Amino acid sequence: MPQTVPWWKRAVIYQVYPRSFLDSNGDGVGDLQGVISKLDYLKSLGVDALWLSPVYLSPNKDFGYDVADYQAINPEFGTLDDMKQLINEAKIRGIRLIIDLVVNHTSDQHEWFQKARDPTSPYRDYYIWRKGKVSLTGREKPPNNWTSFFTGPAWEKDAASDEYYLHLFTKHQPDLNYDNPAVFEEVKKIINFWLDLGVSGFRCDVINIIHKDSLEDGLKRPAAGGQEYYTSTPATHAILKRLHDEIFAPRNAFTVGEAAFVTLDQAIDFTEGDELDTVFSFDHVEHDLTPRLRVNHLLQELVRWQRKLPWNTIFLENHDQPRSVSTYGDENKHPTESAKALAMLLLTLRGTPFIYQGQEIGMVNTPLDDISQAKDPVTHTTYRRARRALFPKRKALKIAMAVGRDAARTPVQWSSAIHAGFSSGTPWMPVHPNYAHTNVELQERDPGSVLSFYKALIALRKKHPVLTNGNISFSSVHKHLIVYTRTLGIETATVIVSLSIRRRPVPKNMTPDDKLLLATHHEELRSDTILQPYEARVYLTKGQ
Ligand code: GLC
Ligand code: CA
Repeated sequence: MPQTVPWWKRAVIYQVYPRSFLDSNGDGVGDLQGVISKLDYLKSLGVDALWLSPVYLSPNKDFGYDVADYQAINPEFGTLDDMKQLINEAKIRGIRLIIDLVVNHTSDQHEWFQKARDPTSPYRDYYIWRKGKVSLTGREKPPNNWTSFFTGPAWEKDAASDEYYLHLFTKHQPDLNYDNPAVFEEVKKIINFWLDLGVSGFRCDVINIIHKDSLEDGLKRPAAGGQEYYTSTPATHAILKRLHDEIFAPRNAFTVGEAAFVTLDQAIDFTEGDELDTVFSFDHVEHDLTPRLRVNHLLQELVRWQRKLPWNTIFLENHDQPRSVSTYGDENKHPTESAKALAMLLLTLRGTPFIYQGQEIGMVNTPLDDISQAKDPVTHTTYRRARRALFPKRKALKIAMAVGRDAARTPVQWSSAIHAGFSSGTPWMPVHPNYAHTNVELQERDPGSVLSFYKALIALRKKHPVLTNGNISFSSVHKHLIVYTRTLGIETATVIVSLSIRRRPVPKNMTPDDKLLLATHHEELRSDTILQPYEARVYLTKGQ
């Protein structure tokens, strides 16, 4: 492969959600030493880089996505020295570190916001403040009807100054004001600080909504929710372009931007316009469909994006999404097979794949018994609303778990030991009861495990550049079944993935010259004409 291919186009990236990764000191919360102690494991899996969810000082109203100090580590996770050690130990093993850059908002505990509460402070203008509106009946209302991503109004009144501040997430996460050039300079400082420490790039949190350039317009007219005023606006593009030109490009930093509601055309603009290297888009995972329709939606959307966007990120899970086996697979009858078939998709489509911790052993959604076990603010707000709407407790919990993000945030299952080997204390969230049979230790010893399959797939990518750099073309997408080829030079890799719970005819005849590289199912179960439920295969053909 030509040297010009950047490292992140060859890389497999692994997301660590540190609270739930591994607890090294028994306080029930995962930490940086926990991550350091598993670097050899991550190396053996074959990953090239880690995306570490936020470890900054934070009051944890949104578990790290509310930052109180961008240059300090949350003591629950360790110290800045631990962070330096992680960066170095990872580097020794050839693993890069990408960190979360959360600069749409800060925590309300951040010094800037504390000072900004004083209207005469120079920090006032770091945030977005507006007067309320008085309705005809004399009642005061927020400046406009924008709503928070986490439900409810996007404005909170500050009694002392009689003004409202904007918060697109919880009220403890005030949005920064990018009309103020000082904010841009602060962000540059944060980026430089971390690049100096040796990180290789950033996962930029909700980056396409940072500039609210149409706010004034939005104040005058009612909105559907507000998104139409602040999503992927020209001013946001301009900021990202400047960050790219002034820091990211000269310092060789990789960026993946989390882009809320991003359309395919907008994603092309962000990446082709030299603003971000890649984006996380959500069309494939965002839906409100019945289980039967979800799989087809997933495949159709993946294909639509693969066909048009030159370089995608590929992910099926993260800390905001449910577990993919629970959503697109069959966690009851075919947990192993469906986890493997999904892995085949993840690691053979064209783009940079991201594995979310625990996905490599096929972890499934963790059910909670009671709302008191839930941590995510979204789960709690949804639960309260459901209760207010008179849903019984069980049903309200079910609704809240479907909307909230707790199901995939439970501890990684390392072994069959108590608390799945995650902690010697009481874990901050319950461990999935299936840990006794679904865990890293058992799967490391089993060549037929999901973990072994992930390792084999990642190794295949390393061995056959066609799987990373090859072009992609789709021969068929039919309901729950997909066939595509990757080509590079004289090599063609053909991938067949069935996400069907039924047996299906093999859609494409492979000739004896096509070498089977890897399959989800054991030889005895394989046939030339029939695919088993959740069977996936990859073949290699060398042309003339
Ligand atoms: C992103 C994060 C999510 C967080 C939100 C606000 O969507 O992935 O976890 O709640 O931004 O920072
Ligand atoms: Ca700990």
